[in-house]
Amino acid sequence: QETDQPYRTGYHFQPPKNWMNDPNGPMYYKGVYHLFYQYNPYGAVWGNIIWAHSVSYDLVNWVHIDHAIYPTQPSDINGCWSGSTTILPGEKPAILYTGIDTKNHQVQNLAVPKNQSDPLLREWIKSPYNPLMTPIDGIDPDLYRDPTTAWQGPDKIWRVIVGSQIDGHGRAILYRSKDFVSWTRIDSPLHSSGKTEMWECPDFFPVSTRSSNGVDTSSQDKYTKHVLKASFNHHDYYILGSYKPANDNFSVETNFMDSGMDLRYDYGKFYASKTFFDRAMNRRILWGWINESDSESDDIKKGWSGLQSIPRTILLSNTGKQLVQWPIKEIEKLRFKNLSFHDKKLKSGSVLEVPGITASQADVEVSFELPNLEDAEILDPSWTDPQLLCSQKKASVRGKLGPFGLLAFATKNLTEQTAIYFRIFRSNHNYIVLMCSDQSRSSVREELDKTTYGAFIDMDPRHENITLRSLIDHSIVESFGGEGRACITARVYPKLAIHEQAYLFAFNNGTSNVKISRLNAWSMKNAQIVSTKNRRKPQ
Ligand code: FRU
Repeated sequence: QETDQPYRTGYHFQPPKNWMNDPNGPMYYKGVYHLFYQYNPYGAVWGNIIWAHSVSYDLVNWVHIDHAIYPTQPSDINGCWSGSTTILPGEKPAILYTGIDTKNHQVQNLAVPKNQSDPLLREWIKSPYNPLMTPIDGIDPDLYRDPTTAWQGPDKIWRVIVGSQIDGHGRAILYRSKDFVSWTRIDSPLHSSGKTEMWECPDFFPVSTRSSNGVDTSSQDKYTKHVLKASFNHHDYYILGSYKPANDNFSVETNFMDSGMDLRYDYGKFYASKTFFDRAMNRRILWGWINESDSESDDIKKGWSGLQSIPRTILLSNTGKQLVQWPIKEIEKLRFKNLSFHDKKLKSGSVLEVPGITASQADVEVSFELPNLEDAEILDPSWTDPQLLCSQKKASVRGKLGPFGLLAFATKNLTEQTAIYFRIFRSNHNYIVLMCSDQSRSSVREELDKTTYGAFIDMDPRHENITLRSLIDHSIVESFGGEGRACITARVYPKLAIHEQAYLFAFNNGTSNVKISRLNAWSMKNAQIVSTKNRRKPQ
């Protein structure tokens, strides 16, 4: 860590410099994990977009290799935008991506490896048939992009969806193909919604209703449900439903932006995400782009912009009504220097230091027990928006049961602090658990976006403790509440609480005592994220 770069991360994926946005085409192939991403080779702002490429054996340590896809053809001469990989029978990877063509229209293109026996898949050849899909028949050429991983029905026909907006409706346009080259648009979309704008980076995949294993994208039976994710309004929203390949019918349990049903992967910063099935470990993994909260001129000064989340295992919760996420277990091998205690009373109004670890680069797990649940405040029925509730009841606002939680990136005197906390409310005979991430005091620097985030967690505190895990890494904190039922990611830029000046605390600003039944904190080693020497510049 250089002192003039206090915000670069130790174990979150990022390129050595410049702009990065969406994760593209993640996959596991011949023992190697691949991550491609939207990248500007020439600067720290969005533009000149190509597919950069990095490879890993463990999803933790990465090697940046030659750029995979960059403008060379009329069908992508103005940019190589987001897309996905599909592994075709015979272990043949294929990339479908959006190209920006000579007319600045969005079109869909295909690329395949030049040498399939190279496990690093360093070189990619574009199909002579590109573009394979074009914006005709009522499709707006500016609103037509980000093909998903394709899936194959029992009829052996391939399906893929492309994100779009038609007549003001966000839409997943469906295509079918026998040979992966010639694609026919199906009249009815896989799904659409009038309550949303353009759907960027859709994702469509099965999850198991009876096991914690992941499911390959083309699999589907009576023990699977399907997830449709779309990126809009700065968030990644998802819905659940049942998918029948025979008629490509996706019948949904809930719809996007249905009142009271706001299912998001993450209630903080997390966008344009993508999953893949990891056949080595039988799990489905989610990657998401975490953008900056500082200004563009700050990014230019830093020389970089954008992080990827820690890859998360994603599966259906026990209730079957939502997804749960958890950082991949490989990340735990970076843990060292552990501090651990249990059964410690966290008295009303107290702040407890978690000493002895590198608080600017840490992994913390804490579990709270609530001996006085009946103290919970009554939830006003108008408090339906968790983010609004968190921003009205910031960490400094005293409550009864809560706020209690962690103060990350804190100075010793607490001038700077990022508070991740809970508040418990009562409504009739139920308890409501609110999780918040309050950035309002994260930095004495001004002109940063310090929006507070919030989410309700679907859990009953009468039957289980309230758990929080936070991955803290210089300018990011990724928090998982209620064993991954609610996730909140925040970006912060402390001015004082950097490197050794950063501290970690547990706090309780409620009038009721709570108990830390267990706390485990670790310093995290740096991941090895390195470049190969002879990186070829795109032409
Ligand atoms: C999402 C997105 C995609 C597009 C890409 C361009 O962040 O806007 O829709 O393909 O970024 O970089």
